[in-house]
Amino acid sequence: SDNIDQIIDRVLYSQDDIQKMCQKLGQQLTQDYAGKDPIVVGVLKGAVFFLTDLVRQMDVKMQNDFMDVSSYGDGFESSGKVRLDIDVEADVKGRDVLLVEDIVDTGHTLKFMKEHLLKRGAKSVKCCALLNKTERREEDVVVDYYGADVENEFVVGYGLDYLNEYRNLPYIGVLKPEVIQANLNR
Ligand code: PRP
Ligand code: MN
Ligand code: MG
Repeated sequence: SDNIDQIIDRVLYSQDDIQKMCQKLGQQLTQDYAGKDPIVVGVLKGAVFFLTDLVRQMDVKMQNDFMDVSSYGDGFESSGKVRLDIDVEADVKGRDVLLVEDIVDTGHTLKFMKEHLLKRGAKSVKCCALLNKTERREEDVVVDYYGADVENEFVVGYGLDYLNEYRNLPYIGVLKPEVIQANLNR
């Protein structure tokens, strides 16, 4: 069914909440990246939605790029193994890179990307994530900027998916646990 009430337990962050987080982060990043001409990299696919709102709140000369990485294993638990699917097009050598993520969970993805870009000679690699799920962290990796810390619940919307769906919800909601349970039992 397309009835979203059947899968969403409650709204965690409304469109208005998200807009305020983007404004706040954008102001901070405008200060911190002034004169640095950063390469701002969105991580496909989840971060695309946040990236477009965030960079429009940054009054900074920048280039935008994308990379795609995937962690293998099943869709629920991270195996810790990360593979590079699409690299950034730009030459990051000597450049300040800002990675934009929708969420940092175990930290495996972020750790891999930071190491990859530093190996390529980036001058600095920082991360701005909308959500930070610190409770699930398995890697000692710094999320330099984030909008909010979230508890260990399955969140969807505004880029965040469940089985590659619900990214287009304009808000962030908590998925009903029974939705996950129903799929596990299939
Ligand atoms: C999600 C999310 C982050 C990553 C965080 O992406 O968008 O990129 O997982 O997880 P981690 O901290 O445990 O590594 P996913 O790999 O599901 O791809 P997607 O963005 O295309 O949904
Ligand atoms: Mn992602
Ligand atoms: Mg995903």
